[in-house]
Amino acid sequence: MRYPSLLMVCGALTFMLAGCTTNEQVEPKEPTTQSSTIDEPETEPNETNVNQEDVGDVESPTEEEPTEDAPIAEQPTGPAEEEPATAAQPIEVNGMANLDLDELILVNKQIALPSDYQPSDLVEAKIDFVDSTVGERRMLRKEAARAIEALMKGAKADGIDLKGTSAFRSYDYQVNLFNAYVERDGKEQAMKYSAPPGHSEHQTGLAIDVSSASVNYQLTQNLGEMVEGKWLADHAHEYGFIIRYQKAFENETEYMYEPWHLRYIGIEHAKRVHELNQPYDRYIAEFMK
Ligand code: DAL
Ligand code: ZN
Repeated sequence: MRYPSLLMVCGALTFMLAGCTTNEQVEPKEPTTQSSTIDEPETEPNETNVNQEDVGDVESPTEEEPTEDAPIAEQPTGPAEEEPATAAQPIEVNGMANLDLDELILVNKQIALPSDYQPSDLVEAKIDFVDSTVGERRMLRKEAARAIEALMKGAKADGIDLKGTSAFRSYDYQVNLFNAYVERDGKEQAMKYSAPPGHSEHQTGLAIDVSSASVNYQLTQNLGEMVEGKWLADHAHEYGFIIRYQKAFENETEYMYEPWHLRYIGIEHAKRVHELNQPYDRYIAEFMK
């Protein structure tokens, strides 16, 4: 694994903190507050301002690019039929994620990944990314990469234009990102939209943030109101992804609504989660009992 040099990290942090992502409008977390513009420290304490999750570039990946063709995504077959057959396993041991769960791995505020964890099968996802997304942040675990390629193809066929903004993030990258947000917004606010190092699904190589031109490729809750966000909410499960942080589940996930954050769990489970309309934390805990 390669890490960004100190110089690159400092440069990236300076770039973001200098206000490169300051013009985004977001929905407030609480329904009783008004929308606000980012970087206004006088906003209500229960409002959450968030913008792009990334602070800059990392070095190019060292792994070779995949040569396989993207598989065709399984087409929707109506409601998910039966509970998928997977042997019950613990979801965590002493607060550490059970890596054996593979694409079903659970990472949240309580359950962490080891700091040295990096998936061994990261490949570049062959989709459109925003220009600022380079290197490792274009990578996903192989199965998830093929799935997001299929999703993007399906979206395009439906006239929906989306781009990736951030996929894999190493532990060290998340350290810099999280610290930058804490510096900017304070820890309490930052914790609502950014995972502390070790607790981000982006480190699993199974999560990707996407956005659209309609919201200037920002990570804003407004995406959920756009045709692209609605398409994702309606179709992501057909490709094995879930909208991991839903508005209705903010209390359970302990993160604000993120219509842009897709988590790959495989088609079978994604259909089931979609149908049950549950937070993944609850779903997988029940499933693995
Ligand atoms: N924005 C999500 C919670 C993360 O930082 O992984
Ligand atoms: Zn994300």
